Amino acid sequence: MNEISKKQQILQDLKKLVLSRVSIVYIVSDEEDRVETLLKELSATFQPRPKFFIWNPFQGLTGEEETIENSRDPFQALDQVIRRSDQAFYLFEGIHSFMKDDPLLGRKMKDVHRALRNRYSTLFIIAPVIIVPEELFRDMIIYELPMPDATEVERILDHVLRSSPQFPKMAESLTPELKERMIKAALGLSLDQVARAFRSALIGRSSLDPTIVDAIIEEKGQLIKKSGILKLITDRPSLDEIGGLENLKDWLRKRAGVLSQNGKSQRIPLPKGVLITGVSGCGKSLCAKAFASFWGIPLLHLDMARLYDGTAGEPEKALQIALQTAETVAPSVLWIDEIEAGISIQSQKAGGGTQSRVFASFLTWMQEKKAFVFIAATANVIELLPPEVLRKGRFDQIFFVTLPNPQERKSILSIHLKKNGVDPSRMNLNMLAKVTEGFNGAEIEQAVNGAMIEAFHEGRTLTEQDIVIAAGNIVPLSVTMKEEIGRMERWAYHRAIPASK
Ligand SMILES: Nc1ncnc2c1ncn2[C@@H]1O[C@H](COP(=O)(O)OP(=O)(O)OP(=O)(O)O)[C@@H](O)[C@H]1O
Ligand SMILES: [Mg+2]
Repeated sequence: MNEISKKQQILQDLKKLVLSRVSIVYIVSDEEDRVETLLKELSATFQPRPKFFIWNPFQGLTGEEETIENSRDPFQALDQVIRRSDQAFYLFEGIHSFMKDDPLLGRKMKDVHRALRNRYSTLFIIAPVIIVPEELFRDMIIYELPMPDATEVERILDHVLRSSPQFPKMAESLTPELKERMIKAALGLSLDQVARAFRSALIGRSSLDPTIVDAIIEEKGQLIKKSGILKLITDRPSLDEIGGLENLKDWLRKRAGVLSQNGKSQRIPLPKGVLITGVSGCGKSLCAKAFASFWGIPLLHLDMARLYDGTAGEPEKALQIALQTAETVAPSVLWIDEIEAGISIQSQKAGGGTQSRVFASFLTWMQEKKAFVFIAATANVIELLPPEVLRKGRFDQIFFVTLPNPQERKSILSIHLKKNGVDPSRMNLNMLAKVTEGFNGAEIEQAVNGAMIEAFHEGRTLTEQDIVIAAGNIVPLSVTMKEEIGRMERWAYHRAIPASK
């Protein structure tokens, strides 16, 4: 790898700041251990090596060889920093809570800035949020600490594995592909969280298999819970659970490797997202969910209805937090079901400015997002979507799903029979495909399930006849909504590509 690692990059960034005599560096991060280690390493790159002191409100200023007396109070500690003439790095942990309450502390910081700017001494502040008094903004640099990259995550994984009691056996069962997937699943977590995720995922295992990836993803659920309108969906159907829709599946299969090391080194462009529209019950939501299982990454559901009903606070703010969270746990799939509910033309008119503003900021984000957050959106009433959503370049593809053809009905029947523990080769699928003509996927599922209940009730195994009878009791949507479906198909003809072959 000729690309320098992220850690080296961070050290270089920080070194540049010190060399250009920035007196106060505000590091935005909640990873105190990691920052301590980084700064220790940073100090070792200087000749002579600056002393390194850490301050917190309980211990005061503590160095590697000395503890500075009477320095627990933040004002006293900063006075010490001003008074000392030796070259040093000072890392202040937890001072942001004092800055919030005491405006004089901002004033004191200004004195620190003036005292340090002519020495090679630097005051570092670490805090999870940015709390900076107005007057200090020009005197300090804010540095957002990037999340650990794959190399760092790999180092932790190796370490956690080696310290496991099952070590040699675990390592044997770890294929390179599985290792890559585990690392990918942990990206977006802080170093502490990565170590915790790996450790807790390994508990009770003596060897590794693909289910470990889900265990790691679960750990990310904690982060997601905090964001209000996002939910981590753990039930992610695989492509095998979708009957038909081969065009859409091919599209996805062609992109199997986009997240692999190989795909990255060849700079394969990352897909942005797809919009799936079409007839109800034909697998729109099912497909949206399958993207995540296909790539082995977390599936986040964005609740459009909650976004607007006010329970998550102001919509613009709530959306911003949700999108940031999705980026934090990237790579991820962001599933937005019935996107038109939030952003339709009519609701924009009715809701006045808020909805169009929320929507505009969503589109901007979609264009500018840096991390791999794949948007899987579904829409039922696509005519309601404003033209800017459908414009080329927003979504990679717009797919249209419609009623399954006979071949597809056969595979949907097989899938749902298998789910019920019935061997499909026992059934005359050609006949059943005829009987279910005009059915959507959901109705085929309903027929199979209904037949199962009937057979179970009578204490016998399922027969074709049960399915024929159950199907006869269902009035498919395609009958009641014939015109509606025709209209959708005409709309889609020029604007979307069929999900089925
Ligand atoms: N192609 C399919 N293969 C297998 N099962 C299917 C298929 N299409 C639909 N189903 C079954 O029907 C259920 C409902 O499908 P899904 O929720 O994906 O439909 P939808 O297009 O999102 O409908 P809606 O417009 O009502 O939201 C699925 O959970 C699945 O069990
Ligand atoms: Mg749906």
